Formats: sequence, C-alpha cells, structure tokens
Amino acid sequence: MVPLTVIGTGYVGLVTAACFAEMGHPVLGVDRDREKLNLLRTGTCPFYEPGLDALVAKHVGSGRITFTDDLIHGARASRIIFICVGTPPLPDGQADLSQVEEVARQIAEHADGYRLLVEKSTVPVRTAQWIKRTCALFRRSNAQIDVASNPEFLREGSAVHDFLHPDRIVLGVESDEGRDQLLKLYKSFTCPILVTNIATAELIKHASNAFLAMKISFVNFAADVCERVGADIGQVAEGMGFDQRIGRAFLYAGAGYGGSCFPKDVKAFMRMAEEVGVEAGLLREVDRINDLRIERLLAKLREALWVINGKTIAVLGLAFKPNTDDIREAPSLRLIGRLAEGPARLRLYDPQAMGRMREVFPAVPGRIEYAASPAEAAQGAEAVVVLTEWEEFKTLDFETLKRGMRTPIIVDGRNMLDPAEMAQLGFEYYSVGRPAIRHAF
Ligand code: UGA
Repeated sequence: MVPLTVIGTGYVGLVTAACFAEMGHPVLGVDRDREKLNLLRTGTCPFYEPGLDALVAKHVGSGRITFTDDLIHGARASRIIFICVGTPPLPDGQADLSQVEEVARQIAEHADGYRLLVEKSTVPVRTAQWIKRTCALFRRSNAQIDVASNPEFLREGSAVHDFLHPDRIVLGVESDEGRDQLLKLYKSFTCPILVTNIATAELIKHASNAFLAMKISFVNFAADVCERVGADIGQVAEGMGFDQRIGRAFLYAGAGYGGSCFPKDVKAFMRMAEEVGVEAGLLREVDRINDLRIERLLAKLREALWVINGKTIAVLGLAFKPNTDDIREAPSLRLIGRLAEGPARLRLYDPQAMGRMREVFPAVPGRIEYAASPAEAAQGAEAVVVLTEWEEFKTLDFETLKRGMRTPIIVDGRNMLDPAEMAQLGFEYYSVGRPAIRHAF
C-alpha cells in the first residue's frame, strides 16, 4: 500500500482521498479550512455526493484517512502528493492558480528526498511546468521533486463510481520514476491506462470537456432548428446516436450545461488556444449557444404567459444537474435572476440545493419563496418551469400539482416529461426542440 497526501478536500480532493482509502492506501488529507476538517474528522461529508459520505465515514472510522491543516506535515508524510486545491475563475475568466502555486512552493520548501507532485485539479495546460519551475526555485538541496498530471474525469453525482470504475486513466509524466510510481498506484484498474507527456495529459482533459460541451451546444442548436420545422430533437438525437461514431450520450437538449467545469473549461480552452495563436471560434460558438438557452426558455414562458411581470412561477430544480447540491453556473441562477427582475413571484424547490440557493437569493416574502415540495411550489402558480431532471420529478402526482396551479402550464427545460402524458393530463406543455402543446383555455 502506498501512503498518499491529498492537498485540498474540496470536491475532487475528497473523492480522491476517500477512493484511494477504499483501495487500501493510507491517505492524509490536507486543508486550511479547520471548520471543514473538524466536520470531516467526525466522518461527515461537507457537501452532497451520493456514496461519498459512507466512504468518508468508513475510512475515518478505520483510521485509513486522517486530516490535517498542516501543509508542512503533509509535504513530509508521503512521497506521492496529489494537488487538488481550488482553481476558481478570476473576473477575466482565467483560472486563479494562486493556491496551486502556494502549495507547490510550500512543498518545495519543506519536503526532503523524492516527492511526486501530481496535479489533479482541472488546470490550464502548462500548469505542471509552472509547478516544476516553482519547485526548482524553492526546493531544499536534498529534495528531488518530480511533477505529473493525472486529470480526473469525475462527474458530480456519480463521482465515487467514476473514480473506482473509470473509462480510462491518463498519466502525464516526465520521468521513469514518476511513471512507475503512478502505474503501481493504479495497478488494480482494468481500464486502459494512457501514459503521455504532461502537456498531452493536460490537453486530454481540456479537449474532453470542451468536446462534451460542444455535443450539448450542438444538440441545443439542432433543437432550435427542430422547433422551427416541427421536428422532434429527442428522435433526432436518437437517430444520430445509433451511429456508433456519434453515440447517444451528451445529446440531451435543454437548459444548457452548467456546473463548475464545462462553462469555465470551455472559456479556459478558448483563451489558451488564442494565447498560442490558434483561432477558437468553434468554442466561442459553443459558449454563445449555451448562453442563449435562458433567453430561449424565457421566450417560451412569454409565449405561454404573455406577460411575466407579477405572475407566480414555480421553478423545480435548482442544482446544475441531478444528484448534487451544486448550483455553480446552474441555469437556475440566471433564470431566477431574470425572472426576479421582472418582477415575477418565484416559488422555488429542489431536493438538495435550496440551502445553497438561499445564500444567493434569500427568501423575500411575496417575491422569492422556498417550498417544501413540488406541489407546494406549484400552489397558485401560473407556470411551472423544470430546470433539473431529478428522478422525483418524473413520478410527481401531476393531478394534484395541476389542481393547485392557477393555470396548468409547464415549461420543461430538460425534456424529462412525456408530452403526450402532459397533454392528456390537461397541461399546456412546452419543452426544448419538440412541438409545444397548447390549449385554447
Ligand atoms: C464534467 C465531465 O462530465 C467530467 O468528465 C469531468 O471530470 C468534470 O466535468 C470536471 O471537469 O470536473 P460534471 O460537471 O459533473 O462533469 O457534469 P456533467 O454530467 O458532465 O454535466 C454537465 C452539464 O451538462 C450539466 O449542467 C448537465 O445538465 C448538462 N448536460 C449534460 C446537458 O445539458 N445535456 C447532456 O446531454 C449532458
């Protein structure tokens, strides 16, 4: 078993720490946020991610994961150190790498002997070179510091499964020692393991996320066309998806992509390409099409309601996708912002993300209200907008929902409901890239 240090116990760091512990390795998690560490030491996960709380509790209990706020201790404790600190976007869209730099400098100043620093946070290409340079500048004379890139491809909501059962593992290395250390760490995995140079590994991550975002914007573009010509985007995507070169995945039209990765990563890849002299119009268009999604949903609401100001609108689903409480760059943020300006009266519901949304949009009686259930949110509403395809929304008691509404109108921003069923229930139903079902009330 290989002792590991994981620096940063945010989303990527905690999943990495818990999953390596599950594989049997002793893991030291380092974070400067003492409050969070106190929570983690009780075996409690500070955010919602299916399966993660159980793993954290199990391995805190078994002593296989320990936590410290002492980075120097972390630097000295293990030969392999994963860097999983935050890289939030700066106002100009560039990733803020100050935490990565600080960690690299401190490790260099305090480590002795061999250390392999593995970047796992999503970082701009060439970050590893900067880490290397920082280490060279600050390292102690008896330290030998090696750098590697091991990008993560975890999806929120299924991160534990994705870590333990990946499609591939990418190892960007620049020394035999670094390669051998990482191959040993991942030796029990049966998926393809691709060993590359560091820039290539970093690029694989950028290109993968940008490509997935491009699929989503493509299908949303095609959905706009479908609406004009009376076609159905669900069937178009299905028809395309049977072609194995295309595949059905990530061709779901709707409110667009959100989260902490795609919006940021598409912009970062675009900027990086342009910095090295490569025109990035393709990605600019991916970003622009995604931005337009909220306007398209607002247009549907206007089509249904005529005037939005003063109307009561229920929003079901605030998280950027199901099975997470994450609202970063969620379509709901922008839609709620626009509707609140109206002003419409908003009634919001999400199974997990209401706590986080309250921090951005605090409840204001008569303006923004949080409901305990979808039916409560829909009570007295002139329209329901669905923004996250939570499983529980598929099996709602729509009869009851409809009885509580002032006018039975649903705008389904995720195409999760069946138009024929909604029509039968008497709803006026608008979705994305599919013919609207209107009634003469
Ligand atoms: C994404 C990638 O899928 C991971 O492989 C990657 O590791 C991660 O970013 C990262 O870089 O850390 P994630 O942001 O958790 O993972 O979410 P996805 O499941 O990829 O969904 C992203 C967004 O696209 C969501 O808002 C989702 O609703 C939207 N989406 C997805 C669509 O609108 N249509 C689709 O067909 C698929």
